[in-house]
Amino acid sequence: MSTSRTLITGASSGIGRALAQRFAAAGHSLILVARRQAALEALAEELRQTHRIEVLVIAQDLAEAGAAARLMEQINATGLEVDTLVNNAGLGYNGAFAESSLEQIQSMLQVDMVALTELCHLCLAPMKKRGHGRILNVASVAALLPCPQFAVYAACKAYVLSLSESLRYELRDQHISVTTLCPGATATEFHDVAGNEGTLITRLMDSPEMVAEVAYRAMLRGRGAVISGWINKPLPFFLQWMPRSWAMGLAGRAARRQAA
Ligand SMILES: NC(=O)c1ccc[n+]([C@@H]2O[C@H](COP(=O)([O-])OP(=O)(O)OC[C@H]3O[C@@H](n4cnc5c(N)ncnc54)[C@H](OP(=O)(O)O)[C@@H]3O)[C@@H](O)[C@H]2O)c1
Repeated sequence: MSTSRTLITGASSGIGRALAQRFAAAGHSLILVARRQAALEALAEELRQTHRIEVLVIAQDLAEAGAAARLMEQINATGLEVDTLVNNAGLGYNGAFAESSLEQIQSMLQVDMVALTELCHLCLAPMKKRGHGRILNVASVAALLPCPQFAVYAACKAYVLSLSESLRYELRDQHISVTTLCPGATATEFHDVAGNEGTLITRLMDSPEMVAEVAYRAMLRGRGAVISGWINKPLPFFLQWMPRSWAMGLAGRAARRQAA
């Protein structure tokens, strides 16, 4: 039995769940991570039955300091190897920076940046030793510009995009690909957690399955960064020409809750 696994964080819902289904359909055996164990176990059972793959479930809160190291210790103890790392777990909160709680800010920094960075670092050494590997990091179109009301989230996602592009360059001759997915608004629980009800963001959303398909194909082709959704693709072109203050104003307006 092969010991190679695809590790997917944030697989209990949304894009992570759809990615798990896409990887499983392609025959990848998986390690699924999130806090909600029951949701992960139910998905794991469905994937084992449907696709005849091996699935290991690990419940882990990635907002805790040292979570990535603890997760990798558990994986190493099983003798399994991560040949593909999908850093998908993430969250954002809609609100002005000054009115956000420190707890909200810390959980975004920890899950969206710290855990992702530490997992890349912990998985890369064995990937380099084996001479191959793949990393898929989930950023957002929010990585492309500062977003008032989502200041910390957008800054975290800009970090993810920047980090991933640098890693991709550093690893270009080592048979390790690093792909960054930048989804636009996608119909997932993200918007319930963020408190996005009544905003323009939630008016036109992509399906998590479509986003996962775009991400999976981009990763297989070894692409650098990919934006999912036809409505989001021209964004970099417009942002190139639009004054930054206008773009920020539009982003802030899209995130503002409309009066009922
Ligand atoms: N939906 C969008 O519009 C959108 C747009 C651009 C980018 N994204 C990005 O896409 C990724 C997936 O989000 P989604 O839209 O699929 O949202 P989602 O349905 O809320 O899924 C988020 C996943 O992250 C996990 N997660 C959150 N906090 C965690 C923690 N402390 N420890 C471990 N796991 C944690 C959640 O699992 P548990 O709750 O079980 O822990 C869940 O599986 C995120 O990185 C998000 O920033 C989403």
